[in-house]
Amino acid sequence: MKAIVVSDETAGTAGMTLVDRPEPPPAINDVIVQIHASGFVPTEMEWSSTWTDRLGRDRTPSIPGHELAGVVTALGYGTTGVSVGQRVLGLADWHRDGTLAEYVAIEARNLAPLPGDVDFTVGASLPISGLTAWQGLFDHGRLRAGQSVLAHGAAGAVGSMVTQLADEAGAYVIGTGRAADRQKALDFGAQEFVDLENDALKDVGGVDLVFDVIGGDIQKRSASLIRAGGTLVTIVGPPDARPADGLAVDFVVESDRAQLGEIVQRVRDGRLRTNIGDVATLDDAVGALNPSERRNGKTIIRIRA
Ligand SMILES: NC(=O)c1ccc[n+]([C@@H]2O[C@H](COP(=O)([O-])OP(=O)(O)OC[C@H]3O[C@@H](n4cnc5c(N)ncnc54)[C@H](OP(=O)(O)O)[C@@H]3O)[C@@H](O)[C@H]2O)c1
Repeated sequence: MKAIVVSDETAGTAGMTLVDRPEPPPAINDVIVQIHASGFVPTEMEWSSTWTDRLGRDRTPSIPGHELAGVVTALGYGTTGVSVGQRVLGLADWHRDGTLAEYVAIEARNLAPLPGDVDFTVGASLPISGLTAWQGLFDHGRLRAGQSVLAHGAAGAVGSMVTQLADEAGAYVIGTGRAADRQKALDFGAQEFVDLENDALKDVGGVDLVFDVIGGDIQKRSASLIRAGGTLVTIVGPPDARPADGLAVDFVVESDRAQLGEIVQRVRDGRLRTNIGDVATLDDAVGALNPSERRNGKTIIRIRA
């Protein structure tokens, strides 16, 4: 099969190469999926799981990409819950070969059905950004209607999902980002926008939940805005800052079939819009994942036409 591999941690995404690899065999509880479209998070080359297995042993050359939409072609011994020929989407294991390839071996529990009226390109854009937003807002942030949310990077992949889901849940959403992102964040449902390079974050006043996708100084300044009993949720590693009277939570997104179902249903009925930028083929993936200009939405690699 054709696959993108990486073997040099210092080379970043520029070190990606398109190679021929054997198709992966299904292990117990695995599913083989013929991938139609794959998502990629631009920071994957910084994750240790891209380079090692769970015991810290080198696993290069490894295949990056951890979200997919495709069709089941084979099942491993004992695998239940999905069938050959079924359309699926899902979140691949961080420590195994990923989805920038024609086939992936993935545990059945990491997959959810993809309805026939949802395009594979759309399906591949949802697992990481959708599940991260869902889990950060509702599982970790315990968001309730009427609360206020500071959604950082609101025009980005995760932030645009956070903005829409929080808005739908009845929260007041203040989006942030660069000056050029203002209209996009407002279109995704933010009631206000803070240009992090030109506006004063402190003018926001108090908020109940900060959803941090940036970290550093912006995280620190945001923590001080959190009202008593509120929460800082961050997805960029252990928090450097804590609210004076509240919780600070960092987490890594997990597969959840029921939550993926909720997200896909919202896309189908129009409550949730995807944030897709460039769509490229596997042959053109290395160039597309190393853009010369700023990304405007998530890059999706369309593996099969
Ligand atoms: N823990 C988890 O489970 C998890 C899951 C998903 C993602 N993540 C992490 O979360 C981060 C965001 O992921 P993503 O896919 O949403 O990325 P993304 O699509 O690039 O979104 C990030 C957004 O924030 C903006 N931004 C970043 N730094 C900024 C700054 N200093 N001032 C103003 N705007 C700024 C970006 O603008 P520019 O493009 O101009 O920088 C972009 O619009 C990444 O570090 C990723 O690894 C973690």
